[in-house]
Amino acid sequence: QRNPVGKLLLFGATGDLARRMLLPSLYGLHADGLLPDGLTITATARSELDDAGYREMAQAALGEFLPDDRKDDAQIASFLDRFGYQSLDASRIDGYRALADKVGDVSGGLAIYLSTAPSLFEPTIEGLTSVGLAGETVRIGLEKPLGYDLASSREINDAVAKGFPEERTFRIDHYLGKETVQNILALRFGNSFFEPVWNARGIDNVQITIAEAVGLEDRASYYEGAGALRDMVQNHILQLLALIAMEPPARFDKDAVRDEKAKVFRSLRPVTPEEAPHVTVTGQYGPGATNGKIVKGYVEELGQQSATETFVAIKAHVDNWRWEGVPFYLRTGKRMATRRSEIAIQFKPVPHSMFSGRGGMLQPNTLVIRLQPEEYIQLQVMAKEPGLDREGIRLREVPLNLSLDAEFAGTRRRIAYERLLLDLIEGDQTLFVRRDEVEAQWSWIDSIRAGWAANGTKPKSYAAGTWGPSGAIALTERDGVTWQDD
Ligand code: BG6
Repeated sequence: QRNPVGKLLLFGATGDLARRMLLPSLYGLHADGLLPDGLTITATARSELDDAGYREMAQAALGEFLPDDRKDDAQIASFLDRFGYQSLDASRIDGYRALADKVGDVSGGLAIYLSTAPSLFEPTIEGLTSVGLAGETVRIGLEKPLGYDLASSREINDAVAKGFPEERTFRIDHYLGKETVQNILALRFGNSFFEPVWNARGIDNVQITIAEAVGLEDRASYYEGAGALRDMVQNHILQLLALIAMEPPARFDKDAVRDEKAKVFRSLRPVTPEEAPHVTVTGQYGPGATNGKIVKGYVEELGQQSATETFVAIKAHVDNWRWEGVPFYLRTGKRMATRRSEIAIQFKPVPHSMFSGRGGMLQPNTLVIRLQPEEYIQLQVMAKEPGLDREGIRLREVPLNLSLDAEFAGTRRRIAYERLLLDLIEGDQTLFVRRDEVEAQWSWIDSIRAGWAANGTKPKSYAAGTWGPSGAIALTERDGVTWQDD
């Protein structure tokens, strides 16, 4: 049941995420008439601005980040009318009174969105609680990073829990807001033909890739302390893995879906220190070229030596009945050959080929779910090549293609945050991450980091614009598997 709030309070409102994603997303909801009519938005950050100053900044951000065909002066003006601004040093308890006065009465419901450094979570919750901004009618959305290991993530969760019980806590993983990610659920549970083969008998291996062409961007201080494993695997890649691996939930609701995902995280086989060098590969980009442009290496961008991994590949296992023996190959990296997020599911080969020796090897079927930059679902199947081959019939692998871009060309592609902000405002937790999920994710991640520490693992250098260190190729080739489409 949806239960919209009447007010929104945005922390970190002048930051990069707010300017690039949150403001354009809220605008998208506003322009489509999806925000509650009287919803007012209080923006807060350290900068000394007044309402007018913030509206100007927001207008400039929309000018920069909205596509031209979405800019409508009248809509932008009525959107900005919703905003007020209160400057706040979130680490000091004394500023919260003024914030509460600015927000005003919250009996009609308040949604808070915390997009600040996690070191500020605790004082912020304290501050909010001290001025009555954490009561029954208030819910809170939390941006990552939620910790850097299990212990620190527990601390954050404990601090938040002092002000907000789990039913009012919304942990954001923006991958869950992406259309194609939700499409995994539609594909698996809205169709009958995959389910009978969606297990260790039908599937040989699963590959999940999130490759980025960008480098460090302006996030050196955060990224250097995080690295690819914490930045991308702990959250986004593991969420994708869970959607692929989970049992069918009985309902599309917050309890059923999250129960099943949590079981998957708890079934991840911890990596032992002995195994770590064999099932994980780390890399750091050196100088190279992406998209035809010469780019610096990580260390040159950072301006100091570093042992932070910008690439990681892992062979993971989900130890349960359905997935016994099926490797899940995971990889993600910055400054890779291209931007591409996809899941490739390789099915088992046919048990016997009557075509052997005639026109090429049979390729096992592969289902590719491309999340970005394009959105499509493709099934690689063997088909007969046209022609009169005297030796028999000649087969070739061809794609059965469902282009979601083309099929839904008339529908605007929304920013992932539009879905999540709307769900936060209306109180639907299905696409938010529950505490037990995050903690099970971290405990698996910690096993990997402990393995790296025990082995003194250092990332191998790879040239920017490539698919990572050669070890990543060996990781699958050893098992007779090739990464999809490199
Ligand atoms: C963020 C990471 O969570 O996800 C970034 O912190 C990364 O490092 C980003 O670039 C990727 O998101 P998307 O939606 O561009 O794939």
